[in-house]
Amino acid sequence: MSVAACGGGGSTTAGTSGGGDSTITMGFSQVGAESGWRTANTKSVQDAAKKAGIELKFSDAQQKQENQIKAIRSYIQQKVDIIAFSPVVESGWDTVLKEAQNAKIPVILTDRAVDSKDTSLYKTFLGSDFVEEGKKAGQWLVEEYKDSTDPVNIVELQGTTGSAPANDRKAGFAEVIAAESKFKIVASQTGDFTRAKGKEVMEAFLKAQPDIDVLYAHNDDMGLGAIEAIEGAGKVPGKDIKIITVDAVKDGMQALADGKINYIVECSPLLGPQLMDLAKKVVKGEQVPPRVVTEETTFTQEQAKQVLSTRQY
Ligand code: AHR
Repeated sequence: MSVAACGGGGSTTAGTSGGGDSTITMGFSQVGAESGWRTANTKSVQDAAKKAGIELKFSDAQQKQENQIKAIRSYIQQKVDIIAFSPVVESGWDTVLKEAQNAKIPVILTDRAVDSKDTSLYKTFLGSDFVEEGKKAGQWLVEEYKDSTDPVNIVELQGTTGSAPANDRKAGFAEVIAAESKFKIVASQTGDFTRAKGKEVMEAFLKAQPDIDVLYAHNDDMGLGAIEAIEGAGKVPGKDIKIITVDAVKDGMQALADGKINYIVECSPLLGPQLMDLAKKVVKGEQVPPRVVTEETTFTQEQAKQVLSTRQY
């Protein structure tokens, strides 16, 4: 890999490894490096591009939409064959996507969606069903407390404000728990998908809320930060406060196997190979499905113990 440019957000160009469609150049704008999930996703995209013989221009937006817009404009100027990006937030993309369309450069959304009404602005969206992930988290909670009539006080650590996973995981979870009035979300705030913010916000929750039964964190990293806060407050994570997270990265799975997290809903970051297949088809002018949903599962503590040693990321 050779570093071609380094500016606000940081860009690199990965060479191809021979074979395949070496003429395809993809500009990829990544959200940032906020979580273990994101690091695994970046590696998956970079490794898959190399394997597919696609030249990858990669930039890290450091969780800022303005950096992603700049990166996309730069890819348009460089006349790449295809642009792929994981939008940090859902709204505000129409103008730059229109610019790509006018330049006849196809766009693929990966991981996160945009809320543009005009779906012709992108060829396909590859990624998880975040609403479903939130529902799975809620369903576990309903089952866990099925024999209890006492109130269940829940605190929620939301992902990045305005991002598709934060919006959808919140909505899916809320829909399922609304069926029973004993469930009450007593506090809900963003932790920006990072461990540091998860810890900070959980510390504030613990000070403000005398009686927390459950933490629902929109990703493992925030959950792991919150575990530090819970232990710091002299409570036992997984017992005094039950914890549900999303992702299933290795550190999260370790905490689940150790009994500090109670349940994890998987969100797979391994999107690279499918992204490269879709990109090749789009560049050739072949039809691709408008939505490709990632296959995912869930993990209990026992299941985490069984799969931990073989977890790739
Ligand atoms: O968009 C996927 C989410 O972004 C992951 O769940 C989270 O860890 C990441 O930062």
